[in-house]
Amino acid sequence: MQELVINGPTKWHGEVNIDGAKNACLPIMAALLMIDNQVTLNNIPKLNDIESMLKLLQCMGLDMTHQGQKLLSFRARELNYVAPYELVKKMRASILVLGPLLAKLGKAEVALPGGCLIGARPVDQHLEFMRALGAKVEIKDGLVCARADNGLTGCQYTFDVVSVTGTENAIMAASLAKGSTVIDNAAIEPEVIALIDFLNQCGAKISVSGMSVSIEGVTSLKAPAESFSVIGDRIEAGTFLIGAMICQGSILVKGICPEHLSLVIELMKKAGAQVEYSSEEQWIRLSMDRRPIAQSITTEVYPGFPTDLQAQWMALACVAEGESVIKEQIFENRMMHACELMRMGAKIKISSNTVTVQGIERLRSAPVMASDLRASASLVLAACQAMGESVIQRIYHIDRGYAQIESKLQALGVKVVRKETVTEN
Ligand code: UD1
Repeated sequence: MQELVINGPTKWHGEVNIDGAKNACLPIMAALLMIDNQVTLNNIPKLNDIESMLKLLQCMGLDMTHQGQKLLSFRARELNYVAPYELVKKMRASILVLGPLLAKLGKAEVALPGGCLIGARPVDQHLEFMRALGAKVEIKDGLVCARADNGLTGCQYTFDVVSVTGTENAIMAASLAKGSTVIDNAAIEPEVIALIDFLNQCGAKISVSGMSVSIEGVTSLKAPAESFSVIGDRIEAGTFLIGAMICQGSILVKGICPEHLSLVIELMKKAGAQVEYSSEEQWIRLSMDRRPIAQSITTEVYPGFPTDLQAQWMALACVAEGESVIKEQIFENRMMHACELMRMGAKIKISSNTVTVQGIERLRSAPVMASDLRASASLVLAACQAMGESVIQRIYHIDRGYAQIESKLQALGVKVVRKETVTEN
């Protein structure tokens, strides 16, 4: 196992190139199961979750070629409809192959992803939607077994909860179903819209109005005429921008659509940051020359405050002037980082899914343990502000969602090294 050793404090200064969004790549990669000819994708990040999806798709029968870090091309041959537990357990988003397999082959067997540390994360909504399209869906021996012997037929469906991957699975399945489908209470996160853009470029007929997605089924999907570029990662960009606020520095993040972070940018300004951006050139510049002013947040579905930036905002609240209340509404157990931040001196009171943070001037270094992807990012940001040497253990979590994290931090002036953990109990 590896750990990051960070010597703080650092005043950040510099530029960061934002990678392609992992959460946009994963559904687009799953959609390749539905496309018969060769597809070229650009801006694919070099991340462990992307590697897990590659392995799963290879096991399903896709041929793939890596061309550098940013380009992959795929060509479907005969497909296998079983996604085994050994591969699915590595990444919950593997459930994204369910819709494409069912639509393309009329059958799918996908291991049921388990819960994870941040919540139970059921997939009942994904399964209910496939049933609404006419599939028979059963759970047998830990596998989701779905069949649509006569193909899928369009339907009208309202999700009980807004689910990002649930909506993506639904859109993919309905794209090749007979007739039209309307999905209400759909997720409209930028990553969902990116999937829709990709599918429409492949010949799908999908439109979005508010939180409703309408799909006119087509009989086949073909590769776009040109290569498809994945959008920049708003969560990676948000993480670096929040980091620059915590460390009172200045930063230019490039390769990101500012509109995807509109609400977060407004909060950053309220907290005292100076922010400029260009939608045309896809960059955001932020500078901070004072302690942040505390801002309370509640996580919500897009365009609300993203749950995937909640932990990083909590690190900011720890060093802000005043009191912040942070409420997590999307996942039931996404506050593990709070206890680790307290080990760094943060003044936090936890009450179920709400924490109250009284900001202090400076955190102090400590050995801390990453519990999930975004929690580890918050600990890294906190360590950059803390006085002394902090060791962040179980850093494999951060490698799932942040490519080359230490070299990007080093370019901003952070004293950080990756080491093999000597012993861990
Ligand atoms: C996606 C993102 C993840 C992000 C999350 C919320 C990917 C690969 N991951 O995860 O980074 O944190 O959206 O923005 O895109 N739920 C149900 N039943 C279902 C599906 C979901 O009850 O069938 C619940 C979940 O337990 C959770 C909430 O709905 O409480 C939202 O989950 P969902 O949007 O599905 O998250 P993911 O798509 O797994």
